[in-house]
Amino acid sequence: MAMIDLYEAISTLRAVRRLRPDPVPDEVLRRVLDAARFAPTGGNRQPLRMIVVRKNAAKQRLADLYAKTWAAYVKFHRNLLEGVPEEIVVKQEKMLAAGDYLAAHFGETPVLVVFCFNPLEMAITDAKLDRPSVVGGASVYPAVENLLLACRAEGLGCVLTTLLCEHEDEVRSLLKIPDPWGTAAVIPIGYPVHRGHGPVSRRPIGKLAFADEWGTAFE
Ligand SMILES: Cc1cc2nc3c(=O)[nH]c(=O)nc-3n(C[C@H](O)[C@H](O)[C@H](O)COP(=O)(O)O)c2cc1C
Repeated sequence: MAMIDLYEAISTLRAVRRLRPDPVPDEVLRRVLDAARFAPTGGNRQPLRMIVVRKNAAKQRLADLYAKTWAAYVKFHRNLLEGVPEEIVVKQEKMLAAGDYLAAHFGETPVLVVFCFNPLEMAITDAKLDRPSVVGGASVYPAVENLLLACRAEGLGCVLTTLLCEHEDEVRSLLKIPDPWGTAAVIPIGYPVHRGHGPVSRRPIGKLAFADEWGTAFE
């Protein structure tokens, strides 16, 4: 079993989009799925399921949908880069190139884990507010993060993707997902083409955490 310091795993878990087609051993996959199951959910209702897609036909159908959606996203995203400072453009183009690779090879990824959720079993405490609700997601995405961290520990590349959620009806019919279940994320998993995980760039804690009230930097 892989051993890695928890803080190191957290701080080097990044989006790995270039994945090799080599299979992931069943026992490794089982550990990664097991990690997901320990995540908290509202009222411990566990309103989530994971579909482990490994059959080529289904992966290819998902890949076709993903490639179409990525193409539209990337066009929109590249337009937004007009007039943006060069160093930001360079970083964004690197991300988009990796995204192009993922879109072109989505169907060759050895494993696609589709996270499903049941909205009727979720404690959605912000459902009635006059803004987009986010609390329901908190009964799914901690499990996604556990799975990503376990992949990190196992030396597997992975990336949280949500573009396929735009095509929930097609994904549900392809994977025989019943009512009222929806889709929250699709995680491509495989051994990385290059070095895989590594340092990530994030805002410093002084910008993200406040002391006692909004606006007073924690550090
Ligand atoms: C809610 C959410 C949705 C995302 N959807 C996609 C996606 O559909 N496709 C993709 O390639 N990356 C997707 N990502 C990955 C992000 O682009 C990535 O986590 C972010 O750019 C940070 O990358 P880094 O960890 O390599 O620094 C998503 C991430 C999150 C949290």
